[in-house]
Amino acid sequence: MDELSQLETERLILRPLTLEDTDFVFRHFSDPVVARYLLDEEPPTRRDQAEELIRFYMDPIGKAYNRWGIVWKATDALVGTCGFHWWNRQHFRAQIGYDLGQAHWGQGVMAEALRAMLCYGFEEMGLNRVDALVHPENRRSIGLLEKLGFQREGLLREYYNRAGEFFDHMLLSLLRGEWGR
Ligand SMILES: CC(C)(COP(=O)(O)OP(=O)(O)OC[C@H]1O[C@@H](n2cnc3c(N)ncnc32)[C@H](O)[C@@H]1OP(=O)(O)O)[C@@H](O)C(=O)NCCC(=O)NCCS
Repeated sequence: MDELSQLETERLILRPLTLEDTDFVFRHFSDPVVARYLLDEEPPTRRDQAEELIRFYMDPIGKAYNRWGIVWKATDALVGTCGFHWWNRQHFRAQIGYDLGQAHWGQGVMAEALRAMLCYGFEEMGLNRVDALVHPENRRSIGLLEKLGFQREGLLREYYNRAGEFFDHMLLSLLRGEWGR
């Protein structure tokens, strides 16, 4: 990942996370409503785990992932995060991840953030394909992706494990040639 640019939309600023965001990151990812379908990572139970998560995302140069904090301009407060994982430069693809505090759901906030992020992915990172993996019951997230033009490709069976239980995940993707149509 190269130096992470700040992105701006009508209502939002997407900026790199810093250690000053630790309280928000802890509160946000330990909220069971936000974490319900985020099976990649266990929700933090201690503040230092949130700090560790932020350190992981700091200085993304040369790495295959990044993360922006999503700032609600009206209050200058963080309301969520989003970013790319598994950037494969040889094959021009990466996977997206995103999460928003419940108070802001259903107002098109994440669609606004992802449009800016996808534009960055296709234009600055040179991606040809963006993957998304979603819990099949996360209808809000699937609706969001389909609104942005992502297509369903199939079901990955028993793809994640949490607390001894396996969960299927749906694979969706958006190609550069479909973007902006
Ligand atoms: C998924 C998430 C980011 C959606 O954010 P959001 O800002 O509410 O999304 P948007 O308002 O931009 O779009 C949601 C779209 O989903 C659809 N939708 C909303 N509620 C829905 C529901 N109950 N059932 C089905 N579709 C629904 C609609 O198409 C809506 O688009 P609209 O604006 O045209 O109505 C948010 O719910 C979240 O952070 N959840 C917790 C973390 C998470 O699950 N992340 C994704 C992991 S894959």
